[in-house]
Amino acid sequence: MGTTELMTTAPAPAQPVQLHGWDCIEFWVGNARAFAGFLMSGFGFTATAYAGPETGAPGVASYVLEQGTIRFVVTSAQQGDHPIAEHVLRHGDGVHDLAWVVDDAAAAFHAAVERGARPLRAPWIEHDDRGALELAQIATYGETRHTFVNRGRWTGATLAPHYTTDDLPPAPLGPPVGLERIDHVVGNVARGELTRWVEFYERVLGFGQLRHFDDDQIRTEYSALMSTVVTDGSEIVMPLNEPADGLRRSQIQEYLDTYVGAGVQHLALRTNDVIAAVEAMRARGVRFMSVPDDYYKSARARVGNVDLPWDELQRLGVLVDREPDGVLLQIFTETLSDRPTVFFEIIERRGAAGFGEGNFKALFEAIEREQARRGNL
Ligand code: FE2
Repeated sequence: MGTTELMTTAPAPAQPVQLHGWDCIEFWVGNARAFAGFLMSGFGFTATAYAGPETGAPGVASYVLEQGTIRFVVTSAQQGDHPIAEHVLRHGDGVHDLAWVVDDAAAAFHAAVERGARPLRAPWIEHDDRGALELAQIATYGETRHTFVNRGRWTGATLAPHYTTDDLPPAPLGPPVGLERIDHVVGNVARGELTRWVEFYERVLGFGQLRHFDDDQIRTEYSALMSTVVTDGSEIVMPLNEPADGLRRSQIQEYLDTYVGAGVQHLALRTNDVIAAVEAMRARGVRFMSVPDDYYKSARARVGNVDLPWDELQRLGVLVDREPDGVLLQIFTETLSDRPTVFFEIIERRGAAGFGEGNFKALFEAIEREQARRGNL
């Protein structure tokens, strides 16, 4: 059985927090068994661990799902007054925790708090006979949090104390999907809050800005958003979006209204073969944002002289963006729950380092052209 104890480490002097990539991303959902099953059957994830009352985690059910280097944790509550249940009541199913690997969770926590982060949980240790995890938590946008995870003294093959690798749900039938890694994690923040949150990541965590798109760049006649991409300079890449004025409600504003506040909009998962991945996911029953045929007419002209399997891309609904350094192939799933909130992006990079910003405008405009044809615009 694991135990919990408070750390007594003295605060470290303020210094940039050294992160070593994603540890895991945790969803808080209404029914972890069903949500985990959906990620397994539709997206090809494998259940690698489970925690619940029978393993020393009272009041919750929690599944660890892995594919490539991607690690998701899907957790639900078993009582209505549990914080997870209250979170789900307010937000619906969503991403609650963006956890990072560090060498020293206490040092990371104290440095971040000293630089202005709101502390959620002071450093603590979880351990069982497989070793110890050192953890600490700070708040970010909305009710989302970052957990600092030090695995230096943890020898277990699984996520954490309380998690077992016994008797896991079997893998559903389906072709292999081939998702490799987390590419980027996108947050939506309220109108007027983008600058504040960009500064948060710069000041508190020492992140830099990779790109900024203002509402002139990601705008159609009807919908607009502003976006800034912050990064630790390595694996962690986090675009932040803010709604902007258009003739209709920005899709970012729709998210904020529906999720009831800021939160994670999409998780981009990278593959080396987007055609095979999307073919497999479609065969497994995943549905994607539909792309009007009109999009491909303009895309072929926009992308120009690049050898691409256009017919396959169009059949599968994969979007294409051209950058100076290469091409980016991407597709967006339908939202993962009934609320129009979090969804996945599947992305293949052929030399391109961007985020498909050329696509947003082209896709929205193509959708609006189809709406106009139906007389619904
Ligand atoms: Fe994206």
